[in-house]
Amino acid sequence: MNGKLFTAEEAATLQDIIQQRRDVRGNRFTDRPLEPERVEQLLTAALHAPSVGFSQPWEFVVVNSPIIRQQIRESFDEANAAAQQAFSDRQAEYTRLKLEGILEAPLNIAVFYTPSQGPVLGQTSMPEVGLYSVVCAVQNMWLMARALNIGMGWVSILDADRVKRVLGAPESHRLVAYLCLGYTDGFYERPELEMLEWERRRDRNTVIRQV
Ligand SMILES: Cc1cc2nc3c(=O)[nH]c(=O)nc-3n(C[C@H](O)[C@H](O)[C@H](O)COP(=O)(O)O)c2cc1C
Repeated sequence: MNGKLFTAEEAATLQDIIQQRRDVRGNRFTDRPLEPERVEQLLTAALHAPSVGFSQPWEFVVVNSPIIRQQIRESFDEANAAAQQAFSDRQAEYTRLKLEGILEAPLNIAVFYTPSQGPVLGQTSMPEVGLYSVVCAVQNMWLMARALNIGMGWVSILDADRVKRVLGAPESHRLVAYLCLGYTDGFYERPELEMLEWERRRDRNTVIRQV
């Protein structure tokens, strides 16, 4: 077997990338365009994600059109206004949060789950693992982006059907992620939602259990 072995230093770097990865929103993106080679690197990272039965059930739509982005942003505005209602006791706080970077980010990528027609090895008992495979691809992109000092934000406050229509996606596709990507003026060391005291990191002892 000729698979590469990594050094302790390389593992430490990966740990650092994992811990320094951040969700980046419109308040941090700069205008600097992403070089095509970088976009290729990010997509290559996505395409090397694990997938159930090696089904690779994904499609990545690179959104360059400002008109399309404007339409997606309108979907966010509507969905966000509705979302605000769910936080009745924290509405003022919610309104102050910046939760997307659709127009500010130099690049948007929509990620779809494209279900297979026939049975997929490994997916017969838990059909949702197809979707999980696409999430693995998104995480690969997120980590690769951070390693390249590129910011990435995941926007999920959207009407998925409207986004599908705007992007001309087939009926069978499912929107998994709408990503905003670009260079930033810096990265926060901690999640922004933690810094703004919206949420705290859970104590590891409460989420790890031995049996
Ligand atoms: C599935 C998923 C959906 C998310 N959707 C949004 C979103 O719509 N808007 C937003 O601002 N952040 C979104 N986020 C980012 C989270 O808020 C963020 O990951 C979390 O606050 C932790 O911060 P960090 O990613 O900087 O560590 C999403 C993250 C995930 C994994």
